[in-house]
Amino acid sequence: MQINYDFLEKYTFKNKAMTLRNHVIMAPTTLRSSLEDGTVTDNELHYYQLRAQGPAMIITEAAYINEIGRGWEGGISVADDDKIPGLRRLASAIQSGGAKAILQIFAAGRQTTNAILRGETPVSASNQPYTNGDFDVPRALTHDEIVQTIEDFANATKRAILAGFDGVELHGANLYLMQQFFSADSNRRDDIWGGTTEKRQRFGLTVTAKVAQTIEKFADRPFLLGYRQSPEEPMVPGITLAESLEFAQRVTSLPIDYLHLSLKDSFQVPFKNTQDTKRVIDYYRETLPEGYPLMVAGLLKKPEQVEELMDAGVTFAALGRELIVEPNWVQKVANNDERAIRYAISPSDFDLLGVPKPLAEWLLTRFRNGFPVTTDVLFDPKQPWRYYKNAVVTVTKPIDPTKLMTLKNRP
Ligand SMILES: Cc1cc2nc3c(=O)[nH]c(=O)nc-3n(C[C@H](O)[C@H](O)[C@H](O)COP(=O)(O)O)c2cc1C
Repeated sequence: MQINYDFLEKYTFKNKAMTLRNHVIMAPTTLRSSLEDGTVTDNELHYYQLRAQGPAMIITEAAYINEIGRGWEGGISVADDDKIPGLRRLASAIQSGGAKAILQIFAAGRQTTNAILRGETPVSASNQPYTNGDFDVPRALTHDEIVQTIEDFANATKRAILAGFDGVELHGANLYLMQQFFSADSNRRDDIWGGTTEKRQRFGLTVTAKVAQTIEKFADRPFLLGYRQSPEEPMVPGITLAESLEFAQRVTSLPIDYLHLSLKDSFQVPFKNTQDTKRVIDYYRETLPEGYPLMVAGLLKKPEQVEELMDAGVTFAALGRELIVEPNWVQKVANNDERAIRYAISPSDFDLLGVPKPLAEWLLTRFRNGFPVTTDVLFDPKQPWRYYKNAVVTVTKPIDPTKLMTLKNRP
């Protein structure tokens, strides 16, 4: 039986002359596969190209806007003009399959290390460390450095325009720098950038306004601006849903084109107030104007779930892990071939699915619990190449398993 899912219908933005072919979005997923200086590699182009035929829009992994903003080894850089040619190839690879190409831009803030920054100390809103991970203690940015960081976001946007992207997404989620300014946990300042909720909102709102102006000034074609938000933080003090809804109202009154929620589960209820049974998406739908473009990511796998999200008034469904596992998800749904959709991945298919080695290693180690791998065979960090039939790996000394994530993807 052919099912006519609403999410396969076209969508046209109200304020920009841009039409999307459906409502399915590829959520940003870090491949850790750029060169050491952040230049895009062929492995990345291949990965995106394989997934470009179905989703309406592909949001790239977070690209760092300045050197101190690097969050991990193998990240994509948009920090310098010399990255534009590589970024242009990335935008073209995505657009070659008919998807719109959105560059996610960010700075890591305190979620990084001195080693990743080659000896520099990470920077954040304050010198408050993030203890839930192997991160180094940051130093607080000075006022002038904050102003420069905002400028760096604007310059990154200009580069994305020159590279041919269809938009940028500001990464205000997942505990990175923009969120660190917003959170009372990481922002302990008492100047104009911190103290009250309103002052903690200032960095995110100022970056958004500045990036919107840059688009207005330099884009010679419809160019989207999205904002990604994590509505709650587990820490106390930390971001609450009420604060996020207030921020959402303010940021969507600026000229942005969509708001993107990064959730664990798209249908989750607030986790800070355990008595609350109303879904986070329902709070947002009530807060935002009717029909405001809202994108949601979190555990979406089956077409029925995506359709349920549309029924709840959410405009776009962003799929993360499922599109790593199944590059042809949209085509299989559209062709009434749902039984062929993969919901788990076999390590022996990593090559076939274009999953670059650093991403595969991450999924099989740090991310193992959150990722559907078909085999029970535990990843052996001493023999990571086992899973790469065609890879030639020369090991000159034993690999320290704790250092695996920092292996560089040299050509
Ligand atoms: C390997 C991996 C890398 C990710 N990288 C990013 C990133 O660069 N930027 C971002 O905003 N979210 C990132 N995310 C989060 C996803 O965009 C998404 O919100 C999350 O995976 C939940 O959606 P899912 O359940 O469909 O996977 C990443 C997730 C995974 C699994």
